[in-house]
Amino acid sequence: MNVLLIGGGGREHALAWAISASPKISTLFCSPGNPGISEVATCVAIDVEDHQAVVDFCRLNAVELVVVGPEAPLVAGLADDLRAAGLRCFGPGKVAAQLEGSKAFTKRLCDAANIPTARYRTFNSAADAKAHLAEHSLPVVIKADGLAAGKGVAIAETQDDANQFVDECFGGKFGAAGASLVIEEFLVGEEASFFAVCDGSNILSLATAQDHKRVGDGDTGPNTGGMGAYSPAPVMTDEMIARTLNEIIRPTVDELRKQGMPYQGVLYAGLMITRDGPKLIEYNVRFGDPEAQALIMRAERSQVLDVLDAAAKGALGEVSLDWDAGVALTVVMAAEGYPGTHIKGTEIKSLDVAAQDPEVMIFHAGTKRDADGRLVANGGRVLNVTARGSSVAEARERAYEAIDKVDWERGFCRSDIGWRAMAREQASD
Ligand code: AMP
Ligand code: GLY
Repeated sequence: MNVLLIGGGGREHALAWAISASPKISTLFCSPGNPGISEVATCVAIDVEDHQAVVDFCRLNAVELVVVGPEAPLVAGLADDLRAAGLRCFGPGKVAAQLEGSKAFTKRLCDAANIPTARYRTFNSAADAKAHLAEHSLPVVIKADGLAAGKGVAIAETQDDANQFVDECFGGKFGAAGASLVIEEFLVGEEASFFAVCDGSNILSLATAQDHKRVGDGDTGPNTGGMGAYSPAPVMTDEMIARTLNEIIRPTVDELRKQGMPYQGVLYAGLMITRDGPKLIEYNVRFGDPEAQALIMRAERSQVLDVLDAAAKGALGEVSLDWDAGVALTVVMAAEGYPGTHIKGTEIKSLDVAAQDPEVMIFHAGTKRDADGRLVANGGRVLNVTARGSSVAEARERAYEAIDKVDWERGFCRSDIGWRAMAREQASD
């Protein structure tokens, strides 16, 4: 089978690494891909915003399945246009992709299906939002409705901060994404992520993960796209997983089908595990990055393509996915300055030496080859050094041992990925 994977980050490198291990794969294409992906796939340049160009490429190259990594093409309706052209696509259509594309859409769905989430209200004007805030307890959570590259959420500790965020939002700081906003209750608990694949009606649970969003050790400094992750998340006990499936995931999939927009693709639930159980913070319609890198290290990779294809065909009931019972942990190496203005084009060496351990994989997130063929940094988050182990401590030790061998002077990483899970491991020893 020929497959086209859309994307070019660490998540797509992990997906490409898994898909390429399937006995069914003939040619795996990836657009745009990156130097790491080019070791397991044929990288091609397609203008992904031009949906007809993607359709034409698939026809010309006998591509049977398209797997979409990032959310933007899904929210833009790429999956709909592929399906309209008779092609199979792993990923939701535009309407169901609003689960990630619109916070208000997800909140309304939670109301309709009685899914536990923070109490909320939506607003279209600054005056109404501020009047509501004046009565609201602190801290309070305010979210721009649309996609805002992870920057559209404020947790305000004071009325002034809350009002300022409202003004920024309606003042156009997030463009059209800020034309309406959601004000919601601040939830207390531990965050975790849950991943499942859906085919419109069937659900295949994947695994759980936790990430580290702040740039600095001890969860300090500005927010990032994620500086590291591990799977599984210890807070997700069997009971919490069962409750998440019964109270959140199953009702979501059933309600979407009932409303005529069946969900097909991966459902990534951001959860707060509160005293009352799991509550939904948000949905994403794609794999997490870097959570996917840890998840895929634990999956039986030769089966991953079967799962994606079965979801796209509506035949998820016919496949299963085996998991390593241990832990996988990924540490992001970023370019100096990230998440602010970061240094570009600095050379990275000795990745082959660093990744010699069979329990270690180094996924490329933001790299490229320069004119002389040298591997250089090409982005903020650059490498995902990922390792398996029988415990968090073991996986983490392997990952940091590999990092020590990476020869990249202008890169940095957090030194404490997995601290929360390690503390639990130590407490139960
Ligand atoms: P979101 O973009 O909705 O995932 O929000 C980004 C981050 O803000 C989440 O990962 C949480 O850490 C935090 N957050 C969002 N909503 C809430 C809430 N209702 N209570 C507490 N923290 C929240
Ligand atoms: N790591 C967070 C995300 O992919 O949204």
